[in-house]
Amino acid sequence: MAHSTLPFLFMLNGKKILLGVTAGIAAYKAATLVRLLVKKGAEIKVIMTPDAQTFVSPQTLSVLSKNKVEVDFFTPDKVWNNHVHLALWADAFVIAPCTANTLAKMATGLCDNLLMSVYLSARCKVYVAPAMDVDMYQHPTAKNNIQKIISYGNIVIPPENGELASGLHGEGRMAEPENIVSFLEKEFENHGSFKGKKVLISAGPTYEEIDPVRFIGNRSSGKMGIAIANAFAHEGADVTLVLGPTHLAPNSAVKCIRVESSNEMYANCTEAFKTSDIAIMSAAVADYKAADYSSQKIKKKEDTFQINLTKTTDILAELGKQKKQQCLVGFALETENVIEYATKKIKAKNLDFIIANSLQDKGAGFATDTNKISIIDKGDKVFDYDLKSKEEVAKDILNFTLNYLKK
Ligand code: CTP
Repeated sequence: MAHSTLPFLFMLNGKKILLGVTAGIAAYKAATLVRLLVKKGAEIKVIMTPDAQTFVSPQTLSVLSKNKVEVDFFTPDKVWNNHVHLALWADAFVIAPCTANTLAKMATGLCDNLLMSVYLSARCKVYVAPAMDVDMYQHPTAKNNIQKIISYGNIVIPPENGELASGLHGEGRMAEPENIVSFLEKEFENHGSFKGKKVLISAGPTYEEIDPVRFIGNRSSGKMGIAIANAFAHEGADVTLVLGPTHLAPNSAVKCIRVESSNEMYANCTEAFKTSDIAIMSAAVADYKAADYSSQKIKKKEDTFQINLTKTTDILAELGKQKKQQCLVGFALETENVIEYATKKIKAKNLDFIIANSLQDKGAGFATDTNKISIIDKGDKVFDYDLKSKEEVAKDILNFTLNYLKK
């Protein structure tokens, strides 16, 4: 069954939206975006980088927004432009299109234009719609910069796949103005919907020590769980993330407890679970650990070598036994019979629902930026979702949880 999207009427009515336009070809779409936002009843002010004016005229955006467009630190008669005032005025700051250059500045805090100084002064939520050519978007620096700005609490409106100005095809096109508008409507709809709720998330792999230099681990990056933690914190929840070894980090609104082994993860999860309202266990916990830890490095001897393994504690199943008021959610990463195996785990671990993904689906699973999930509830109803960025998947999970708790 496909999961339907609810209409979000009037969500933008009366909202003050600051639109930042940077110098990419998609800047011409800013005119449509302003028009659509105004039609929804939002009040719009526009800031442009100086070069953005070569792609769309400030006059066009001024007419459509019914407001003055700001570009420079000084007005033509040399009066200082109060950027702090603009940053405090807005309910949301949307940077669309956001070029690779502005993205890099946002990641490092470089402040050489009015738009960047407003960004650095903003207290409202900042939404970023990247727009760049496919290879630029695939470049490791762009990927890292996107992760960095997410970790600072910004929200990325993922680019779309399609024909690019260069004639190439691929990911990098700015999200269509209509899609940016519906993204913002959903944001305002859910705003603060988890305020006062305590949410526990587990994420990442675990490392089970064999000797001082070796361990049993897996390829999990923790990306999916971190995105879920960020999404709940974004909606006002008090989030504790118990995170296995990874170089990634959640944004600063999330309380992050870094752990190495399944034992440490278990101890921290059971403690936090007692006072949690919702717990989502997305960690790829090692199922087995060495039965005996060798305090000295194991030396190479025979051609074959056996390590005795013993089961780790199933953290999720233990939480299922301790469950009282909490909504408990698990993940199931499978390579075959996905729905069947995942459904069995709901009962075996006493879950409210489970999020299944298959390693067979292209773009799903470990260390990718995207995921494709199905959510299965206690009544065995299956909700299938499309392949999306992990940030969008996190939002789907958040919305599903919200609807589940309302029932
Ligand atoms: N899980 C856990 N502790 C473990 C193993 C798994 O908390 N020691 C949790 C995972 O975080 C996930 C769910 O259990 O939410 C299912 O994990 P998965 O690896 O898919 O299944 P397992 O129960 O380990 O069974 P199998 O590996 O046989 O599929």
